[in-house]
Amino acid sequence: MKQISSYPPLVFAGEARNLQASLAQVSAGNAFLLQAGDCAESFEEFSAVNIREKLRVILQMAVVLTYSLGVPVVKVGRIAGQFAKPRSSDFETIGDLVLPSFRGHIVNGSAPTAAARIPDPERLVQAYHQSASTLNLVRAFTKGGFADLNRVHAWTQEFVASSPEGRKYEQLAAEIDRALRFMRACGVDTESNSRLHEVDVFTSHEALLLGYEESLTRQDSLTGTWYDCSAHMLWIGERTRQLDGAHVEFLRGVGNPIGCKVGPTTTPEFVLELCQALNPAQIPGRLTLISRMGADLVEDRLRPILRAVRDSGQPVVWACDPMHANTYTASGGRKTRDFDEICSEIGGFVRAHTAEGTWPGGIHVELTGDDVTECVGGADKILDSQLDDRYETVCDPRLNGRQSLDLAFRLADLIRTNGLA
Ligand code: PEP
Ligand code: CO
Repeated sequence: MKQISSYPPLVFAGEARNLQASLAQVSAGNAFLLQAGDCAESFEEFSAVNIREKLRVILQMAVVLTYSLGVPVVKVGRIAGQFAKPRSSDFETIGDLVLPSFRGHIVNGSAPTAAARIPDPERLVQAYHQSASTLNLVRAFTKGGFADLNRVHAWTQEFVASSPEGRKYEQLAAEIDRALRFMRACGVDTESNSRLHEVDVFTSHEALLLGYEESLTRQDSLTGTWYDCSAHMLWIGERTRQLDGAHVEFLRGVGNPIGCKVGPTTTPEFVLELCQALNPAQIPGRLTLISRMGADLVEDRLRPILRAVRDSGQPVVWACDPMHANTYTASGGRKTRDFDEICSEIGGFVRAHTAEGTWPGGIHVELTGDDVTECVGGADKILDSQLDDRYETVCDPRLNGRQSLDLAFRLADLIRTNGLA
């Protein structure tokens, strides 16, 4: 930690403020948040291709959502620092072995041996360096032509044309095509106009290891405020959101936009106290509440909370994490999630907001650009029996590239049928 304290910050405070301003637009119902990436980044799966493919699917989803919602989509990756994992249990049993749990590559190794599970502080330094290189490539890709709107849409058209499931989105893809042609006909140069050529992709992760976060917390020379410069946005996980706990105490003291997971046991009273602790000045964009209730519970549990927060005047961003409360173990023993359940939680989330007159501001999902088989269902109709084919996650099951795009189109449909755009 002493070593990292002397290293350069990974992000600049001004960027965190820009993200907060964009999130303020989300809280006001004028923009949408897409927060997505790995459950846990891996030291082993660290390559340009891996980063590029993840970015590609985030950009594709963003184009579909921007067109369908008619509002800007704020893009935030679970990337360049999403290493540490909270665990429900300190130990895990593999065969006859009882081993300390894997806690993310920033702490220990995932191999099922006692030696791999010993925490190693050098991993903090490696995580810092991997985050720096990842962020460097994200910046290069998003500003260097990779994010060009024409090109991103062309990839999406490939998905639509090449899969039977994708084909049902032909109409929407054709509409986006027409919109692009219309802009060109009006004289907008879609090749060179920087707004259509470059995008902002911000970084975020769960601020779990407070020592690591503190080592990268610096005082902004422009404003004198302290910022956690390990990422633009940080969030508090479901297991560490105690009002008198260290994670709330730490994050309330930094100027970054912050998030907090809100699970099915949360009460409206708790959420109001949380808002008071994390955003007493009621700054729009400062606080994102990420609900993760489960497909069956979301509508009932969320509505009283939405009502309470709405009536308190707290300008929060509401995001839906449809992944973490819909995880189960498949017959073969793999941890998985069902694409339909994921869509169903988003559906309940949108209905709850529609009923309470609040804005369903965003989604928070675990995905990868790769062709993995970790979640069942979706465009390729992945079955339980196929989970072993390419199950590569170091933690929770992620949507693959096609499932992610399928999700964006489903969400676009949902938005239209609920009259939200
Ligand atoms: C996560 O986002 O990977 C996570 C562990 O979520 P939660 O804190 O909501 O369980
Ligand atoms: Co996860």
